[in-house]
Order: sequence, then C-alpha cells, then structure tokens
Amino acid sequence: MIKPLGSDTLNPLFVYDETKHHELNKEAEGLPSLLINSAAAANAVMLGAGYFNPLTGYMDIANATSVADKMQLTSGQFWPVPVFNRTDDISAIKDAKRIALRDPNVEGNPVLAIQDIEAIEEITEEQGNFIAKKVYGTLDSEHPGVATFNSHGKYVISGPIQVLSFSYFQQDFPDTFRTAVEIRNEIKEHGWNTVVAFQTRNPMHRAHEELCRMAQKELNTDGILIHMLLGKLKPGDIPAPVRDAAIRKMVDIYFPANTVMITGYGFDMLYAGPREAVLHATFRQNTGCTHFIIGRDHAGVGDYYGKFEAQEIFDNDVPEGALEIKIFRADHTAYSKKLNKVVMMRDVPDHTKEDFILLSGTKVRAMLAKGEAPPPEFSRPEVAQILMDYYQIEG
Ligand code: ADX
Repeated sequence: MIKPLGSDTLNPLFVYDETKHHELNKEAEGLPSLLINSAAAANAVMLGAGYFNPLTGYMDIANATSVADKMQLTSGQFWPVPVFNRTDDISAIKDAKRIALRDPNVEGNPVLAIQDIEAIEEITEEQGNFIAKKVYGTLDSEHPGVATFNSHGKYVISGPIQVLSFSYFQQDFPDTFRTAVEIRNEIKEHGWNTVVAFQTRNPMHRAHEELCRMAQKELNTDGILIHMLLGKLKPGDIPAPVRDAAIRKMVDIYFPANTVMITGYGFDMLYAGPREAVLHATFRQNTGCTHFIIGRDHAGVGDYYGKFEAQEIFDNDVPEGALEIKIFRADHTAYSKKLNKVVMMRDVPDHTKEDFILLSGTKVRAMLAKGEAPPPEFSRPEVAQILMDYYQIEG
C-alpha cells in the first residue's frame, strides 16, 4: 500500500488507548486552558485523524514561514500549508508549559486536545502578510481565506499535541466522517490496490460524477474515494448534511455497489486554490489513495486563481518526489449536446461553447430556489430534488 507522507506507518495524534485517554482528560481539567479558533480546532482534528502525518503539532513562525515559502518545514520535510494555533489572548496560558485546548465548535467548549507549549511568539504584520500572500496568492481581505487568516490573532502557540476528540464531526456525520486510519483500513478490507480520491465541497452534479467515472476508467482503479469536506464553509456554499445526502443518493443509484466509498474529513475550507490542492493531495496519500482528481479551479473562489493553476503547481512548485500520490488532471467537463454525454473539453476540439450545457453556479442556485430542477444533463433529478428542498426551506 502507498506509504503515508514522511513515515512508514501512519501516526495519528489521537490518543486511542482508553486508560491514557481517560487520564489525559482528567489532567486537562486541571490545566490552564485556551479556547482556540475554528481553524486551529480543525487542524487538531486533522492531526488526530492521521491526515496531517508526519506533523506532531502546531508550527512556530519559522516553520510556518518556511512551509509558506518553499513547502517544507525547517527540517526539510515536505509540507504545503502552515498549521497554526493562533490567539489574541494569552493571559491564561502565559507561563504554562502544558495547556488544554478547548473546542469552539461544540457546546460547553470541551477539551479537544492537550498541547505542550514550545513557544509563544508574536507574529508581525509583515510575517503574517508574507505567509498569507504565499498561501492564498493575495492579501485581498475580500478573499474568504485571507479574511479568516487575518482574524486569527497575533500570538502563535507552537508545540506538539495529543488529541482527545474529533470535535463535532463523529456525532454529526456518523456514517461519513472517517479518520485517515479508518480509510486505510477500509481500502485494505476492500482489497483495493489503486484508489482514486475525489475532493468535494459541493453536491455532485453530472460533471463531478463523470469526472470520477472517467478517472476510474482511465486509470483502471479498483475504487473511488469520495472524500467531502465536513467543516466550515463560506456563506452561500451548500451545508455538509445536504451535500452528503445528495451524494449518497447519486452514488446509490448511479454507481455499481462496492466501487465507491463515501467519506468525509473534518476541516474548514481554506479557499487557497493551488496550495490547498497540494494539501488535499498530501492528505489523500495519507489515507492510502494512489491517485487524486484535480479539475478546474480546484479549491478556488471568485477569480483569484487561474482555472488550472491547481494542476500547474504540481509541475512548477512541488519538489520532484515529494509526493507519491499521482494527480489525475481533468479538463473542464460538461455535457455535450452533440454527443449526448458528459465529456472533457480537450477531448472534443470540434465543439464550440454552444455545443455544451453550461450553467453558472448563480443560475443553478436561482433555479433551485424557485423549485425548478436544472436539466437532467446537468444534475441528476434525484440530486436536484434534494437541493430544491434545501433551497426552498432556506428561502
Ligand atoms: S472544491 O473546492 O472542493 O475543489 P468542487 O466540489 O466544486 O470544489 O470540485 C471538486 C473537484 O471537481 C475539483 O477537483 C474541481 O476542480 C473539479 N471540478 C468541478 N467541476 C468541474 C468541471 N465542470 N470540470 C472539471 N473539473 C471540475
């Protein structure tokens, strides 16, 4: 099986030993505690679940800067995106060596993890901007990822963590949330050797569905891992429970049994386009997938990134050999009225724009809100129904 990044076996930071887990929870009650932000909580969940192998905790400024600049830690280990725990208020933890991290996303703010503090550093505006520019490609505060990054506070708290919970993800998505450890095990149980992963933050329309099918066929993979983001999104994106239901329905009807795993991970969307695509590929390698689909404007938002920049970064910036997982590069995919099927545009050079059924996100949302299903060439009717129900309740 494909190895995780940076080690022979996966080292999830969740404390699985029950006695140890109980002891740490008890210890945490007596420790100084910090209510962390949602991004830091999501980082803890990803570290706990093994997705962020081989990291052992939160980065200091030197490591985050090196990662932002060159996609490597100061040790030289490849890693694409800074993993921070930042805050504005250190009054309760100033002289502490070990602290309890409290979950902002669960009522009562239970302990999510324990952190050993290696350093508390103040990040300057210049350092923050350097990192943001490298990761998001812009400093525009209208960019949802940049806006979130800038809200994270001036103190960087670095050091290793022990994770005690998977936040709200296990409870809210019992059938869908998976750790990287679980996905590796399931792939083994299926006896799959080659698996292509599909990242999504959207319900799957025909283009998404066919992308998976095309990748599976072209690469001759044993299975497909649909791996959806279950964390926070920007306003306007479809909430995870609705998307989960739509994807399940579609797979159930349109894919042969036992060829697709429907799963999700607990992370907030960064909207960092190319850099996020590299992070996405990295943690899919940790789940044991051999291939990863990257299409048009992967993890993008607005017009901040070139349509295929998230593929080009693998040629231009990811060091040779850094990742073992292979990228399946998809061109813009849409339904061809001429051929009566979904195609990749590069495969039909004779087509003009008018030969495709192309609908903008805005147009589709407006239709769904009015209770109008998009054409079946764009969206499966069963998927459209779930989305119409959601949009009509939402207003
Ligand atoms: S993302 O933010 O999670 O990347 P989305 O769920 O829309 O957004 O996309 C999932 C994957 O499908 C990404 O790799 C994206 O590039 C790809 N994709 C979505 N729509 C198309 C399309 N029409 N043509 C080609 N690739 C697409």
